[in-house]
Amino acid sequence: MSKTGYWFRIALVNFFVAGLAGLTLRFAFVVELPWPNFMNGMHAHSHVAMLGWLYLAIYALFIELFLPEAAKHSKKYTRLFWASEITIIGIFVTMITMGYHVSSIVFLSGHVILSYVFLGFFLKDIRNTKGAEVSKRFARTALWFMAASTLALWAMGPLMALSMAGSALYYASVQFFLHFQFNGWFIFAALAIFFRVLGQQGMSLEKKSLDQFYYLLVISCILTYVLAVTWSTPIPLLFWINSLGVILQTAALFVFARMIIGAYPSAQKLLSPAGRRLFGIAMISFALKIFMQAVVVVPYFATISYTIRNFVIGFIHLILLGMLTHMVLGAAVNTGIINSDSKRAKAGFLFLLIGFLLTEILLFLQGTMFWAAVGFIPYYYELLFGASILLPLAVFLILISGKKHDLAS
Ligand code: HEM
Repeated sequence: MSKTGYWFRIALVNFFVAGLAGLTLRFAFVVELPWPNFMNGMHAHSHVAMLGWLYLAIYALFIELFLPEAAKHSKKYTRLFWASEITIIGIFVTMITMGYHVSSIVFLSGHVILSYVFLGFFLKDIRNTKGAEVSKRFARTALWFMAASTLALWAMGPLMALSMAGSALYYASVQFFLHFQFNGWFIFAALAIFFRVLGQQGMSLEKKSLDQFYYLLVISCILTYVLAVTWSTPIPLLFWINSLGVILQTAALFVFARMIIGAYPSAQKLLSPAGRRLFGIAMISFALKIFMQAVVVVPYFATISYTIRNFVIGFIHLILLGMLTHMVLGAAVNTGIINSDSKRAKAGFLFLLIGFLLTEILLFLQGTMFWAAVGFIPYYYELLFGASILLPLAVFLILISGKKHDLAS
């Protein structure tokens, strides 16, 4: 197995652990659990899912897809990978037992510093990769968004020292980190990977549309950050800036959809069925995410969107599980890291899709019922827990599916 394929599997192990933690949180609504404390469990879950799964899966795919052979085999990336994995284990153990605590902050800071080292190594080595200008631009932008998002983390210490925890500025910093992690780093990285895979499979997209898409998305990513600030500072100008960002983002979606529809006939020939399906689910989730953000241009919907927890959680998982997880899995299938012919992988992808759809439907339906003040779906928490079982099970099946050309499946 290639080094990057092996790293991808370690990232899947982290995903499995994060999935089990998420499942435990859902079980905590069915039966009262003595341990873990819900907030500690949630921090452990979200950090390991984002940093242990998505970050490391992107790390493995960036190196596999973008770097020349010599750099790919360099020991520095192996050391960096394992150092990052150690911080993830540290984050999980300290978060689940103590929540935000000096020890978890030490591991978190370690992870952030290692991500800067990755940025430095990668940006230097990618200069030696020929061609792939568009996907390289997305990859570089993703890394800069990642670095920018972490600036907010360094502001937290001083804000706390100044007794400003809970202030509007503190809240704006937390949202700055989350917004640019999700909409900047992760989404641009997933798109970089997507365009690179298409390019490697021999598909070419129109350069002018790709450029338009890129600029529209960068500008809208920056502008839509202000929505988060409207929560504490609801002034009309900020709502207008967000609306402009959302309009540009919707325009980006149209450009993207036009390109993808145009490329569909060649995708049918060049991509594997499983790879196509995974990319398809990711793109539908991406479109839904943009559509939902367009709806919250109306201030009334904006207020509902962040006051009903089910909508927040449904939206977060639409991006992270629907778009990003399916995008990186699609790339892993198309590059042969995961063997999509294996029965286990096929069952895993199916369970992942069903689990994702059922949990999203339940979360959004119940959220709408809260908003309409019409009570609960019967057995809501039991159903949500039952549907969530499919998710870690899916990850486990994908994990044990073997890589392409393995005989055992
Ligand atoms: C594998 C299946 C998953 C399950 C069963 C699951 C479950 C959950 C649950 C129960 C919560 C807390 C909801 C609440 O407070 O009511 C949550 C929150 C969250 N999850 Fe997941 N999740 C999964 C996958 C993921 C993935 C793949 C990611 C990211 C890559 C992710 C990131 C998050 C984040 C960021 C939060 C919000 C934390 C906060 O509000 O501070 N989850 N998840």
